Amino acid sequence: MARIGLVGFGGIGIEAAKALVTDTSLTAELIAFDRKEAVEAVPSAQAGAYEEILDAIGILGTGASIKLTSSLEDLEGCDAIIFTAGIPRQANQNRADLIGVNIPIVGALTKHIGKVAPNAFFVMVTNPLDAMVELAYRNLGLPASHVVGQAGVLDTGRFTIQAALATGRPASQVDTLVLGGHGPTMVPVYSAAKVAYKPLDQWLNAAELTRITDEVKDRGRTIIKRQGRSATFSTAIASVKMVKAYLSDTQAILPACTRLNGEYGYSGLFAGVATRIGRNGASPVEVPLTETERAAFDASVRAVKEEVAELNAAG
Ligand code: LAC
Repeated sequence: MARIGLVGFGGIGIEAAKALVTDTSLTAELIAFDRKEAVEAVPSAQAGAYEEILDAIGILGTGASIKLTSSLEDLEGCDAIIFTAGIPRQANQNRADLIGVNIPIVGALTKHIGKVAPNAFFVMVTNPLDAMVELAYRNLGLPASHVVGQAGVLDTGRFTIQAALATGRPASQVDTLVLGGHGPTMVPVYSAAKVAYKPLDQWLNAAELTRITDEVKDRGRTIIKRQGRSATFSTAIASVKMVKAYLSDTQAILPACTRLNGEYGYSGLFAGVATRIGRNGASPVEVPLTETERAAFDASVRAVKEEVAELNAAG
């Protein structure tokens, strides 16, 4: 049994619940939290999804379970928490525009969660991601190894599928990596990008590589434009991948927003880096970068610091 809290049972939380109950490699005991007004509305997207997921568990006939609640106390004993509560961005917004509106939501909830679920592995998803991880870390009181942000798995998946489409190879033959902040300064690491073990820049010309970079960076907005709302399914799958690495102790190295402890010369801040995840939590791994990539990573860390300065200014 893995007790998993979904704090925010909106678009992403619901998709994460679906992914977790259909995954037969674990028996998920889901605690789906949302605001009382959302849970009790008629009709309610949250309540409707809850009822359908219950039926799906019946159909699958597994040991999974789900509880829909508006009480944070129900998160007691959670092994892992996927946190998505907050306001998603619109097409005309940058993720950074959400800082003012999401600080009070994330701030209040994380203060409470740290008290009821002190042993959880906590995955932040709310934007602006890098600042919200920092805020959660300050409020939760969990060790740095147990607080991470989900962004790199999503951005790296986006890089992988664009490289796959451009080369005509399946994603299973593609390795990529995206580091840095979850915003326009993110760094697709071309020196680590390979298709069938051959460097991606030997498959594609410079114009094609630039097109991929632009698409990866703007993918979130492309999705908002195409479906009228921010990404949910892909974001949920990325978050579940991180939680599963923790619960199953895979020690997989996944890109995540992780607290640095000397890596790349930085300490005491969260940034998107390769991160080893297992039952002992998350620890950053410094991967080699070219000089250009290193400069881009430094610029991205500066952008993250600016976001954190805004957080500090908000008190
Ligand atoms: C995106 C949002 C979820 O990148 O940040 O789609």
